[in-house]
Amino acid sequence: MDQKYHLAIKTAFASEYAFALKAQNFHWNVEGASFPQLHVLFEKIYNEVYDSIDTFAEQIRALQMYTPASLQKFSMLTKVEDENAEGMDAGQMVAELLQDSEKMAGIFKLVFAMAEQAGDHGLSNFFAERQDAHKKHSWMLRSTLK
Ligand SMILES: [Fe+2]
Repeated sequence: MDQKYHLAIKTAFASEYAFALKAQNFHWNVEGASFPQLHVLFEKIYNEVYDSIDTFAEQIRALQMYTPASLQKFSMLTKVEDENAEGMDAGQMVAELLQDSEKMAGIFKLVFAMAEQAGDHGLSNFFAERQDAHKKHSWMLRSTLK
């Protein structure tokens, strides 16, 4: 259980970091008529996620694991795929980030259940909050697509 549990937490962490980086990538590289709104929306999203990263990293340390923190480790672990956003359509950026945000909500739902089972209630609370945050990001992205 422990090994699977610990790997799932590290995977969630790397994926969350990759998600924030992708939102920041889109913030920098978005183009087109919707630039002003999307530039701001992507910034709002990556700021919210980055704000949670340090707490997440320290929760991992509190479980006596090392926190993955290199680009190589992140790329090995992440479930959010890397994106080269150069010349990418703005609507496609929104659609892809929406898909990733929904994926993140699913990942946090999974690790929430694992943390509950392990009796790590502080951590499961944190995961519940992250799931909620991604539901909110998904809502904003989904509404932007209409
Ligand atoms: Fe900026």
